Amino acid sequence: MAETLGTLEDLPEDYRAEMTAAGVAPLWPMMRNVLPHGAPQPVTQPGYWNYDAIRPLLHRAGELTPVEKAERRVLVLSDPGRGAGAMQATASIYLGLQLLLPGETAPAHVHTPSAVRIVVEGQGGYTVVDGEKLPMEEGDLVLTPGGEWHDHGHEGTEPVIWLDALDLPVFVYLEGSYATEGPLQAQRNRPDASQVEYLSSGLAPSRKLGVGTRRYPMMRYPWGRTEAALNEMAAWTDGGVAELDYVNPETGSDILPTMGFTAMRIAAGATDNPPLRSSSAAFHVIRGRGTATINGESLAFGPKDTFTAPVFSDITLTAEDDAYIVRIHDRPLQDKLGYYEERAK
Ligand SMILES: [Fe+2]
Repeated sequence: MAETLGTLEDLPEDYRAEMTAAGVAPLWPMMRNVLPHGAPQPVTQPGYWNYDAIRPLLHRAGELTPVEKAERRVLVLSDPGRGAGAMQATASIYLGLQLLLPGETAPAHVHTPSAVRIVVEGQGGYTVVDGEKLPMEEGDLVLTPGGEWHDHGHEGTEPVIWLDALDLPVFVYLEGSYATEGPLQAQRNRPDASQVEYLSSGLAPSRKLGVGTRRYPMMRYPWGRTEAALNEMAAWTDGGVAELDYVNPETGSDILPTMGFTAMRIAAGATDNPPLRSSSAAFHVIRGRGTATINGESLAFGPKDTFTAPVFSDITLTAEDDAYIVRIHDRPLQDKLGYYEERAK
């Protein structure tokens, strides 16, 4: 193994010019950039977004830009490592805070990237996915998987705000990102599948031979029952940390192809100290306060705040009062590519 590799400057000017003219470049001066030793060198830096600071900016967007002019009225959470205007929070995860005002609708469209909405505040918002009307209550996780038509509406009286998480950066990188517009969808006259077909965990509708399930059978994960499950688990778990994966109720697998989601409860005074993970992550605080330390930098988090951690980050989360947090990560993508790993600290 070479100690140091040759640089571009080691090469004669005429040779460099001829390579450029021929449309080629030497690998060895760039080798360590694309294949660093031992672990990746992420561009992504830890980010922190204080909800109280962003909320008035969102409301101002509501005054400045009608939804017809925005299609989706969103403020994107830009990765500090990529700088102002970055349309992503980590290498693979896009995050945005979206505002919908009473009476507004966000038109129907379908696109290649998948999205999840985590409802931050407000009553009366809803999302229609493939004709299924999904109420949006605070803390609910609502899926709009890639290839599924979706539109949003608002029947309440106060603004509704939710956090969008998409695998958009992956699709942009693959040059596979595009959307198609359409008219608002006709709605089915029945509650969503979480209230009808998958009301209890461990139970799924019986099906006749040869009748398949939908690829995404349940589009809404109501927060109320997620919190109840966390509380029950926490009561029987040592160490004060309970964490549950959001799964497809038919298969038990990840709810989306590239993004995974967990719900965490960290009891007051307890600390979550996970191994170093090869996945990148975003943490959205549903409720509670505490301190997150990411690669040696500490930040205080409160309700509705969001923060991120690059791949292989050293993360500790300590709760001041009982904290409920949704963790968004890209382990499903890394599993599919065959390289997800965890390392002891
Ligand atoms: Fe969309």
